[in-house]
Amino acid sequence: MIATADIIEAEAERLLRALLHVDCDPHGRKWNLETCREIAPLTLEINRLKREKDAVILTHSYVEPEIIYGVGDYKGDSYYLSLMAKQARAKVIVFAGVVFMAETAKILSPDATVVVPDRGSGCSLADSIDGDGVRRLKALYPDATVVCYINSTADVKAESDVCVTSGNVYDIVANLPARRILFVPDRLMAENVRSELKRRGVAKEIISSDGTCLVHDEFTAGQIAAARAQFPGLKVVAHPECTPEVAALADFVGSTGAMMKYVKQTVAPYFLMLTECGLVDRLEVEAPEKTFIGGCRLCPYMKLNSLEKVRDALLAPRPDQIVTLDEDLRRRAARCIDRMFELTPAT
Ligand code: 13P
Ligand code: SF4
Repeated sequence: MIATADIIEAEAERLLRALLHVDCDPHGRKWNLETCREIAPLTLEINRLKREKDAVILTHSYVEPEIIYGVGDYKGDSYYLSLMAKQARAKVIVFAGVVFMAETAKILSPDATVVVPDRGSGCSLADSIDGDGVRRLKALYPDATVVCYINSTADVKAESDVCVTSGNVYDIVANLPARRILFVPDRLMAENVRSELKRRGVAKEIISSDGTCLVHDEFTAGQIAAARAQFPGLKVVAHPECTPEVAALADFVGSTGAMMKYVKQTVAPYFLMLTECGLVDRLEVEAPEKTFIGGCRLCPYMKLNSLEKVRDALLAPRPDQIVTLDEDLRRRAARCIDRMFELTPAT
């Protein structure tokens, strides 16, 4: 069905209401009625395809705001989106995020067709170690409980005892009975866990592999000091993938979901968000009264998503856009994620 001019105009107005305050656009675009009119036929087509194909679109907070607010059904952090994937009853799940997130959706919703807009949307953490690498570490530390951060491939999850996200990592690791923990793949998050457990008085040995996030490992203590000197009253909000030096200087450290909640609930003249810029876009939409001083960084993988690629993945997915997993591996990976759901304290 061809959308009439009236329908396109109404869609452009809907998009503009959501995108009006986005100031941190990676392409330097300004959202106005004209730019919203340009994308309106595409968002209308995607929303029609969703109904026709019985599909849902899960969007991580780092992807472009026109995807999140134009066509997304669920938006949030890795934990929330995993839960939504597990509960989804749709025939098709489009995951606008990165490949490990879509793999996680397939692990949790095996009967759905799970598609990714761009197969190249990797992650420097997930790509830093594979199942063989974990097996080699397990051979060195056979008594350790293996904890994998959700930013890991399905074969790493299949080798792990329990999965964690940035939102539950401290509580889950603190409550595990084992004294020795093998933590993959994020070395900086492992260091942050070590500091937090020390602060809580929990004695554990944390051994980690050597991955880092190419976005979060770039933030520095010097950047925080310079920003505080220039903006009195500034609140610094960081992700646990940042270095321990940065985490120690931040006013708040948490998952992207928790970071959003903190900003919405905190009164301060300025915020410095030490994370991917998509989160700032979301806050500009949902908390337009807050002031962000810049400093965020782009994830090149998350930014591979686009409305056109979402449409193509829905309309006629190419084989490389469809996530497939060996069933035995999927079951083993599902065990470690289900263990995470069991161990996550209810909020
Ligand atoms: P969250 O689960 O906190 O959204 O983190 C995902 C991620 O990739 C951070 O870089
Ligand atoms: Fe991976 Fe970092 Fe991009 Fe998150 S921001 S998807 S951890 S590379």
